[in-house]
Amino acid sequence: MRLIIQENYQSLSEWVACYTVAQIKKANPSPSRPFLLGLPTGSSPLGMYRCLIDLYKKGDVSFKHVVTFNMDEYVGLPEEHPQSYHSFMWNHFFHHIDIPPGNVHILNGNAADPAAECERFEARIKALGGIDLFLGGIGPDGHIAFNEPGSSLASRTRVKTLTTDTLLANSRFFDNDINQVPQTALTVGIGTILDAREVLLMVNGHNKARALAQGVEGPVSQMWTISALQMHRKGIIVCDESACAELKVGTYRYFKDIEKNNLDCNRLLS
Ligand code: GLP
Repeated sequence: MRLIIQENYQSLSEWVACYTVAQIKKANPSPSRPFLLGLPTGSSPLGMYRCLIDLYKKGDVSFKHVVTFNMDEYVGLPEEHPQSYHSFMWNHFFHHIDIPPGNVHILNGNAADPAAECERFEARIKALGGIDLFLGGIGPDGHIAFNEPGSSLASRTRVKTLTTDTLLANSRFFDNDINQVPQTALTVGIGTILDAREVLLMVNGHNKARALAQGVEGPVSQMWTISALQMHRKGIIVCDESACAELKVGTYRYFKDIEKNNLDCNRLLS
């Protein structure tokens, strides 16, 4: 696992955007072999989406041959609801780039048959050749997508019940009223994420420090689903200094040292 420790949220966001662009360009995608990109919602990736839009506007990247798969969506929230992940993705990213709408895949949280919807999503990823790069964030309890503590590390896309911790954390988007937060969601599984050729998680802020330490230093455990990244051949965590508060000094110094020449995001694009 790589741990890229950035000074602050802005440099973290720039690094992840540059890395993503570099990987898309390296793949040289085409209509017959598009680049498959897994995407998260939440506040963590917002800065990265802004940087990706800037890079697109500067002509550094095109998303014409990029096909996206979002991690998750609430169950029962209308797509046009301002807090649906459909609204989030179009407002913060897709409306501002050249991605063809048909290339966007977001789980339908209002599907009549949610299990069939989840199977269809997995089948589509497989049919297109598998996800090249899965970007993600984590919750304060270390969950990836909506794979709450206790989720099977072999899980696939399915319906999940959200924990009180997550309902409370996400109530900030619903007038701070936990009763307005949908209690279930459709989410890719940990197994779905681990199938991607690369997985990159963004971890910023002091409230993620415990989860980061568990993910990097703790054992692989279903109680901290971030730790599943340890099982991936190409797992990267990009974090900021605040998120490092619970890491051992030795761990912090080790990753600072071995990644010291890889921190400048401009080098990724050169
Ligand atoms: C939700 C999403 C996750 C996200 C998490 C953290 O639970 N399903 O994908 O990582 O929130 O969100 P934030 O980045 O706002 O802290």
